[in-house]
Amino acid sequence: MQQQVSHQFTRLFHPEYLHAPKSLSSQDMDKIHTWQSQDTPLFLEIGAGKGKHALLFAAANPDKRLIAVERTSEKFASFDKLADNSLENLLNIHADAIAFTAKLLKPNCLDGVFLLYPNPEPHNKNQRWLNMPFFEFLLSRMKAGATITLASNIEIYIDEAADLLTDTWQLPFVKSSIAADSARTHFEIKYLARGEHCQELIITKPENYCTRFDDYAADLLV
Ligand SMILES: C[S@@+](CC[C@H](N)C(=O)[O-])C[C@H]1O[C@@H](n2cnc3c(N)ncnc32)[C@H](O)[C@@H]1O
Repeated sequence: MQQQVSHQFTRLFHPEYLHAPKSLSSQDMDKIHTWQSQDTPLFLEIGAGKGKHALLFAAANPDKRLIAVERTSEKFASFDKLADNSLENLLNIHADAIAFTAKLLKPNCLDGVFLLYPNPEPHNKNQRWLNMPFFEFLLSRMKAGATITLASNIEIYIDEAADLLTDTWQLPFVKSSIAADSARTHFEIKYLARGEHCQELIITKPENYCTRFDDYAADLLV
């Protein structure tokens, strides 16, 4: 049975207005296509920064693959230098993750998503990930049982996300505090060193969860 979620009350994402990232090499494009057609679990990191988490995750999980996307040139340059093509199961991509996901990922292809310390967007709550129409699209790229890990040092960001998960997205999640000695990302290290309370939500996509994009694949993919 399909899970009935009232997506008609959320603003509709329009992938057709976006353009595929131009910066990708043909080798990257080949990997993106191949990885989605194989059984090895595939993860996406959005806003990977300088890539600390991406490198740790890929090194610790040789049986999984990670595509880690960062938009800012300077941060991506540091990430690219650190990664140095050393891990077969990590693909670091310089792009806007929204356009990347909309144009290059197929429905039902991801086993997990990382959103670690996203920009809090204090003046524009519509730019926070769970307030964006894109979030519904992102859910459509995930397999049933896949998870999103959302971490933040900002209590109201986590509280707002938890309310949206319950009221709008109707998704189950587990909330927890991050240990003071955790060191997954540069921002996590900085916030914990300042003694800030960092929290995360592990959000699960249930079986039979439906979105309006479950059959959508961009022209590049069909
Ligand atoms: C606060 S930083 C956190 C970086 C890293 N996750 C960490 O914890 O150290 C947020 C990052 O998300 C990136 N970002 C924001 N929106 C993005 C998008 N649409 N696509 C790709 N990266 C994005 C920013 O460039 C920035 O590097």
